[in-house]
Amino acid sequence: MRLILIGPPGAGKGTQARLLGEQFRIPHISTGEMLREEVQAQTELGKKAQRLMSRGKLVPDAVMLDMIAVRLRLPDTAGGFLLDGFPRTVSQAVALDSLLEKSDRELDAIVAIIVEPEILVNRLSARRTCADCNTVYNLVVKPPGKMGVCDVCGGTNLIQRDDDKPATIRERLRVYEKQTAPLLSYYLPSGRLREIPGDDTVAAVQKNILAALPPANQMD
Ligand code: AP5
Repeated sequence: MRLILIGPPGAGKGTQARLLGEQFRIPHISTGEMLREEVQAQTELGKKAQRLMSRGKLVPDAVMLDMIAVRLRLPDTAGGFLLDGFPRTVSQAVALDSLLEKSDRELDAIVAIIVEPEILVNRLSARRTCADCNTVYNLVVKPPGKMGVCDVCGGTNLIQRDDDKPATIRERLRVYEKQTAPLLSYYLPSGRLREIPGDDTVAAVQKNILAALPPANQMD
């Protein structure tokens, strides 16, 4: 299955992508994660990206396209993939279409998770991520069993993302509306766009996404 998850910051793309990736045994490709790895490694790309990300701005299309072209050439994508956070502009979507066409692949579904802005701000303000293994928590709906300790790896460094500060969240939402929301109109004519309400429990949203996938991609 080749799937794209679209949605505003905090819609639950990463949460759902991890679950679907495991279920379908396909790689979950998050461009945000890839960029944060570059930032952590303090590469030249990482340093430039960090300046934009911490202000809630998008990294230039050309940089993202190079990154995704390399990633989609790796053999683990042969059986499908799940893109989380890419494409994020119409020009990224056009470039992705042509990249896939060159390798005789096409998208099965584009899932857009829809959530109201007020909910997003609350969710993102309460998000914490384990700095050691990247497990994502939420202080309100999904806190770790023991406060400050990662359930998965036992790490004690649960951090708030740099771009999850209120002013940056507001800018990210503005950027989403202006630059990413037009993707819904771009994908509508394909007949493969599925709009799923994201204002429900994680399990309910997952169930609705699975039910909306094309029949050939349904789990038994
Ligand atoms: P990226 O990392 O992709 O951030 P984002 O799109 O803003 O999305 P988030 O990771 O904030 O949210 P999410 O929807 O994944 O929600 P999550 O599941 O974590 O990108 C970061 C930056 O990198 C961008 O701003 C940009 O600068 C740059 N970038 C990346 N890709 C780019 C591209 N293609 N082009 C240009 N620049 C790019 O959930 C959020 C919280 O809510 C968690 O605490 C979670 O536990 C909780 N939660 C999840 N689901 C539910 C639910 N159903 N109910 C209650 N709580 C829930």
